[in-house]
Amino acid sequence: MLVPNTNDKNLEHVAIIMDGNGRWAENKGRPRLFGHQAGARRVREIVESCPDLGIKYLTIFAFSTENWKRTQIEVSGLMKLFKRYIYKETKPLIDAGVRVRFIGDRVRLEESLVKLMDQLENLTKGNTEVNLTIAINYGGRDEVARAAKRMARDVQSGDLNVEKINEETIPRYLDTHVLPDPGLVIRTSGEARISNFLLWQSAYSEYEFIDTLWPDFTAEIFSSIVNEFENRERRFGGILK
Ligand code: FPP
Repeated sequence: MLVPNTNDKNLEHVAIIMDGNGRWAENKGRPRLFGHQAGARRVREIVESCPDLGIKYLTIFAFSTENWKRTQIEVSGLMKLFKRYIYKETKPLIDAGVRVRFIGDRVRLEESLVKLMDQLENLTKGNTEVNLTIAINYGGRDEVARAAKRMARDVQSGDLNVEKINEETIPRYLDTHVLPDPGLVIRTSGEARISNFLLWQSAYSEYEFIDTLWPDFTAEIFSSIVNEFENRERRFGGILK
């Protein structure tokens, strides 16, 4: 049973770097893809725990712009896994009222995968219970570079006035333009790095680095991190209840 989040200071958006699938599999003497499959199965439990925790937005890092450097077998296995995930999870996601969005550069992705991503976004666009954003071929620097390119085009066409560009203009050009900034970023597997994830958006986020490998990350662990975060926030704000 998850502890419901009844705190006034609601944590709206949590982002997760799902790390440790490879080590989890290696610890069991299995191929890395076995770990990614176990990691993909974990996603549903975490997404479905969001309403009880009061979390409206969940953003997960599934594939980074740097992940192309992995072996061809691992990369193509992950691409297949994303397709299978979309096939298998479409109905449960719709039933749970989840709206799915993808961020990252789609240009380098297989057409068949992009088609499924578009379809899932369309099929879930009326849902409001949870907003799940999946980052595929995503890198924070790449996102900012693509945003700069679009801004430059708008300047060229006269739709954007250079003199008016400020801190509020840039987020409107990022992939995440419809999302609030994350209050909390969690990284599993004991690595304390942000690895190019939501660089602009996490300027004021709290970070939580935990040793658990992603395939072992349960809704209970998630709930305890969220609750601990909110207690921390309450103390920092000086609003003692
Ligand atoms: C990092 O673990 C994980 C990834 C690069 C892939 C993340 C993918 C999933 C959790 C599964 C698919 C997700 C969806 C939404 C279908 P790692 O391989 O770097 O682990 P290691 O650091 O132990 O090697």
